[in-house]
Amino acid sequence: MADHWCCHRRTILSTLLVSLTLFGSLLVQWPSLMNPFLTRELNEFMVYNSTDTNSSTNTTILVWHWAFGFKQDTRGNVCQDRFGIPNCFLSDDRSLFPQADFVIFHNRELINGQQKLPLHLPRPEEQGWVWFSWESPTNNGNIKFLDGKMNYTMSYRRDADFFVPYGWLEPHNVGSGMTVDDFIPKNKSSLACWVVSNYAGHLKRTQVYNKLKKVIPVEVYGGATGRRLNGEQLLPTISRCYFYLSFENSQFQDYVTEKLWSNALNGGAVPVVLGPSRKNYEAMIPKDSFIHVDDFSSVEELGAFLKKLAGDRERYASYFKWKLNYTVSRYGSWVMDPLCSICTKRTTLQKPKVYRNLYNWERK
Ligand SMILES: *[C@@H]1O[C@H](CO)[C@@H](O)[C@H](O)[C@H]1NC(C)=O
Ligand SMILES: *[C@@H]1O[C@H](CO)[C@@H](O)[C@H](O)[C@H]1NC(C)=O
Ligand SMILES: *[C@@H]1O[C@H](CO)[C@@H](O)[C@H](O)[C@H]1NC(C)=O
Ligand SMILES: *[C@@H]1O[C@H](CO)[C@@H](O)[C@H](O)[C@H]1NC(C)=O
Ligand SMILES: *[C@@H]1O[C@H](CO)[C@@H](O)[C@H](O)[C@H]1NC(C)=O
Ligand SMILES: *[C@@H]1O[C@H](CO)[C@@H](O)[C@H](O)[C@H]1NC(C)=O
Repeated sequence: MADHWCCHRRTILSTLLVSLTLFGSLLVQWPSLMNPFLTRELNEFMVYNSTDTNSSTNTTILVWHWAFGFKQDTRGNVCQDRFGIPNCFLSDDRSLFPQADFVIFHNRELINGQQKLPLHLPRPEEQGWVWFSWESPTNNGNIKFLDGKMNYTMSYRRDADFFVPYGWLEPHNVGSGMTVDDFIPKNKSSLACWVVSNYAGHLKRTQVYNKLKKVIPVEVYGGATGRRLNGEQLLPTISRCYFYLSFENSQFQDYVTEKLWSNALNGGAVPVVLGPSRKNYEAMIPKDSFIHVDDFSSVEELGAFLKKLAGDRERYASYFKWKLNYTVSRYGSWVMDPLCSICTKRTTLQKPKVYRNLYNWERK
């Protein structure tokens, strides 16, 4: 189903390209139409894009419990008012269960026992249960008991039914006269920085850090270090670093978090990433905008490279070229914003669908 949809879209896109070629002067629009990163996923499922909504159908989305207990105000018509998505009703009123089209279950509260699936209620055949998690399999616990119960997934995974990335690039024109240098913070004073809350020794990221700090100085901040940064200090601190260690807590397909988007790319430091493969990152950001730990045969080599790069103004600046054409975007409210987008994808969902083995799907 997903493939079918993708290829159909590609045909539309090719047709569009041909038409644009016929009108040469329109070609200037091509780059912004053709965001090469996450194009299909973003077009199919974005809060700000409700073109696919079947506006004659009402959709009721029931949030069974809020993620991490962050209760949101759903009074009024929030999806319409905030995102212009019509006929899309979001609520946490459990009495709506019998008529809800989708019921959202955030994973954390299910696995820690704070919340339970409503297995005692008669479940409408047409209703879709949505499993929602931002975490990687390492932190999702044992979800075997969900097998055969969830119809859809909502996660950072690009192949989730509802793709909710931690961030994405949006094409934008900075206008003429701007150069790459305008985007590089001027007062860099630290070579490499890292903000970390958990550096347990078994984590791959801790092992890389322990080797790296022997080769180059690494400024470490965060809960585990006694050098906490508050929200206001975070980005200015990162902007003073040439490199930021965007090291994920675990390595899984598509698991790329705010450590890349909000911290490094937004903070004005070049990301040194540890996470999924380089190829996986290249689906999300330009290949010359980051340094991957796997690009080097040893951490020592990585350290030597970073030292050299920081001293080479021109080459260092090349890592910021993407800023001339993209900005980093993310959800305004990560507990609320993705939910309204369910309505925009409703008509393209496979139906019926059920995840017989969610555990395996996560680790695929
Ligand atoms: C919305 O999606 C359509 C294709 O599905 C695309 O042509 C359009 O540019 C998108 N709009 C925005 C604002 O992203
Ligand atoms: C909209 O939904 C109605 C009712 O489910 C369906 O009959 C119709 O084909 C849909 N239209 C589009 C354009 O998807
Ligand atoms: C959709 O919801 C609106 C607002 O509650 C209601 O007025 C309308 O009748 C509903 N439409 C359908 C087709 O159920
Ligand atoms: C330079 O660093 C200071 C803090 O030391 C910060 O307030 C300022 O915004 C930075 N300037 C630039 C251009 O990044
Ligand atoms: C990127 O932005 C620059 C500066 O605005 C512009 O000259 C260039 O054509 C853009 N490139 C693409 C591929 O959009
Ligand atoms: C959701 O899964 C249940 C349980 O397997 C199934 O009975 C139901 O038809 C599915 N619903 C949808 C919309 O796929």
